Amino acid sequence: MQPPRIYVERTLAIIKPDATHKAEEIEDIILRSGFAILQRRRVHLTPEQASDLYAEHYGKLFFPSLVAYMSSGPIIALVIARHQAITYWRELIGPTNTIKARQTHPDCLRAIYGTDDQRNALHGSDSFGSSQREIRFFFPDSIVEPVATGQAAKD
Ligand code: TYD
Ligand code: MG
Repeated sequence: MQPPRIYVERTLAIIKPDATHKAEEIEDIILRSGFAILQRRRVHLTPEQASDLYAEHYGKLFFPSLVAYMSSGPIIALVIARHQAITYWRELIGPTNTIKARQTHPDCLRAIYGTDDQRNALHGSDSFGSSQREIRFFFPDSIVEPVATGQAAKD
């Protein structure tokens, strides 16, 4: 019998401005959670770049303060990889609102490293499509598409 195939997936993680002082500790947790860190970039986004990154939220009440927060200081963008990386990283960071996360998921990373209902320390792509877009946003030269795909070999 063939062993099960393990598919490694990539996702984009961001250590946001309120948590970069804990980057070493957070990256250590990422590695201990079975991820490989494939790429890493420290960057201070302009308000225009932060608006592009969060374009899906344009027009919402919290958009201006989200953009101000995300451009308030350097962030660290990471491409991380493991089996089911997108889902698992979202699970690890926990609910969007740090204050609520502290009540319902006290062990999640946003509960531990977040500041308030907006400054929630960490980002994770929410789908395969956004992971592709967001990885390309920070690492335009990275190859996101598979180099080759093929049918599984017949037994
Ligand atoms: P969203 O994509 O809904 O959450 P997530 O980061 O969990 O995917 O929102 C993007 C960011 O916008 C979120 O991390 C924090 C901020 N935000 C607010 O400030 N207020 C809000 O009501 C929401 C929904 C998000
Ligand atoms: Mg989101």
